[in-house]
Amino acid sequence: MRYFLTTAIDYVNSRPHLGTAYEKITADVIARYHRLKGDDTWFLMGNDEHSQNVFKRAQEQGKDPLAYCDEMEQTFRDTWRGLNVSFDDFIRTTDRRRHFPAVQALAQACLDNGDIYEGFYEGHYCVGCEEFKPEKDLVDGLCPIHKTTPEWIKEKNWFFRLSKYQRPLLDLYAAQPSFIEPETRRNEILRLVEGGLDDISMSRAGQSWGVPLPFDATSVVYVWFDALINYAAAVGYGWDQARFQSQWPADLHIVGKDITRFHCVFWPAMLMSARQPLPRQVFGHGWVFFKGERMSKSLGNIVDPLDAAKRFGPDPLRLYLTKEVPYGADGDFTWERFEEKYNADLANNLGNLVNRVASMTERYRQGRLPASPPRGSTLPSVAESALTTYREAMDRHALHEAVAAAFRLVSATNEFVATSQPWALAKDPSRDADLTGVLYDAAEAVRIAAVLLQPVMPDSAAEILRRMGDPAPAEARRLSDAAWRSGDARQISNTGALWPRIDDKGAPTVSETPTPNPEPASPPAPAAPAASTAAPLTAVAAASDDGQIAIDDFMKVELRTAKILAAERLPKSKKLLKLSVDAGEPSPRTILAGIAESYEPEAIVGRSIVIVANLKPREMMGTVSQGMVLAASTDGGPAMLVNPDPAPPGTRVR
Ligand code: MSP
Repeated sequence: MRYFLTTAIDYVNSRPHLGTAYEKITADVIARYHRLKGDDTWFLMGNDEHSQNVFKRAQEQGKDPLAYCDEMEQTFRDTWRGLNVSFDDFIRTTDRRRHFPAVQALAQACLDNGDIYEGFYEGHYCVGCEEFKPEKDLVDGLCPIHKTTPEWIKEKNWFFRLSKYQRPLLDLYAAQPSFIEPETRRNEILRLVEGGLDDISMSRAGQSWGVPLPFDATSVVYVWFDALINYAAAVGYGWDQARFQSQWPADLHIVGKDITRFHCVFWPAMLMSARQPLPRQVFGHGWVFFKGERMSKSLGNIVDPLDAAKRFGPDPLRLYLTKEVPYGADGDFTWERFEEKYNADLANNLGNLVNRVASMTERYRQGRLPASPPRGSTLPSVAESALTTYREAMDRHALHEAVAAAFRLVSATNEFVATSQPWALAKDPSRDADLTGVLYDAAEAVRIAAVLLQPVMPDSAAEILRRMGDPAPAEARRLSDAAWRSGDARQISNTGALWPRIDDKGAPTVSETPTPNPEPASPPAPAAPAASTAAPLTAVAAASDDGQIAIDDFMKVELRTAKILAAERLPKSKKLLKLSVDAGEPSPRTILAGIAESYEPEAIVGRSIVIVANLKPREMMGTVSQGMVLAASTDGGPAMLVNPDPAPPGTRVR
């Protein structure tokens, strides 16, 4: 299948930042996923150069605007290369061979079809938005986004008859509901178009920085009318009709939520007017904020994506942005959270697993694993359901859900290793075949997880696959390679730790120094003597003089069974694990448990436990714990989780 996707083209008045990088990285994940599916994928990106701000920036630097844009092209390309963004084509709106003829042909077609007429424009224009602003959209006379006073413009303009397309657009959205995704954006656009559309100005008079109108040499095409055409220009519109017909329409435009309406209203109307096929889908992603605030020069909080990539390489950043931000919603970036997730997902979970499997295979089997027939372990079915969930989520652009499915396989494999205890099997010669089987299954599950993670973490996936004995180049790999294989022998290589924990590298943010919410001296889950498990209970129940409580008092404590869905270390704590548990409620709970010295997080995922479900939520180390986990322990000994198997999550314990 052919798949043509695009991102927005960026204004080049400033360098790429984490927000613009978010868009390119997530689009790249989609492009790489389609290549993995075997689609004939074409991924287009580019730069939007005919903005007045770009012209001004060049002037400020005393540069010719085109020379300035040439320099910025290198800056953008270098950034995208540094983030492993695999675009196939890069178009600039100053491209006279491809873009100029396309813009002129489309403007001419709209004129010929009676949709462009001459008029007079008087009103506000925000240069930051590159948009005419109706009075009602201003707040105290300022643009609500840029907080600047718009320019008052009074000039002869050419108008595009957008109002004529209200009904055809509504018909389009009704006939093709997936044209706008996600649903929130679709509803916004529907409301907007149902409210009526005004004609829009499509030219600017007396300017030289832009594409000249073919029917009025004194005007250039308005920057948005110009920019949108890049998608068709890149594949031949106006300069290579045969190529255009073979590559157009685009399957997917990935754009930010602020510019979704240009893509879902102006753009299809322009194409309808020019009698050209429409793109199949527009996905309006959310914004990434820095500590909850919009990144801006004036706030001085712009994050350079290359700085983030320099910290651990591009893959951890790609993983963070894909996994931690539900695609379509807004997300947040902080350095602390980034490092926390690096430790949890990569150092402790995936990295730890790869290192364990490789080092044990080397130690016990000199790195060689023979083909291993299925041994009845649950891993093949866990891997199969991970693949099904992953594919289904990717196909509806729920990138975060797809990555989470791959990570569930990683956690399950870590648990499988912990419960199968290969180190114990290695001590028993009669369990020789079992040991081989356990190592094979673990290595196979790791291989499958790496195939699924290839679109998100291309370099890391290649390295993991090499270590797991599957060194084929990424281009040759297909999603079908994520099916369980038992018939091939493996040469596993153990080449050192993949992702060391940050504190091992001495990075400053992770320390044992006290924080505003220091770890409590005694952990919330009783890892102390078994008798002390009663201590928190007495806080709720009224004890009599002899220390005994009445049954009613005991019944006030709501003990319930739960299942651990995910577990991770708290970077600043030696004792606490952060658990996400299914307690039979509509959504999982977060519970901090003081069991980090007794359990590896990945070893307890899937375990059944008992929790105090009605304990007052309590904040510790910046996380709110919604309950307490019961564990038994002898004096000074390790905590042992109370196991209520086989009761399902949410069952009352009394
Ligand atoms: N030049 C126009 C797009 C024309 S497309 C025909 C433009 N450029 S931009 O440089 O301002 O933005 C480029 C893309 O980055 C847009 O899709 C925008 O939504 C996105 N983002 C800019 N800041 C962002 C965040 N902080 N977070 C996520 N995406 C963000 O608009």
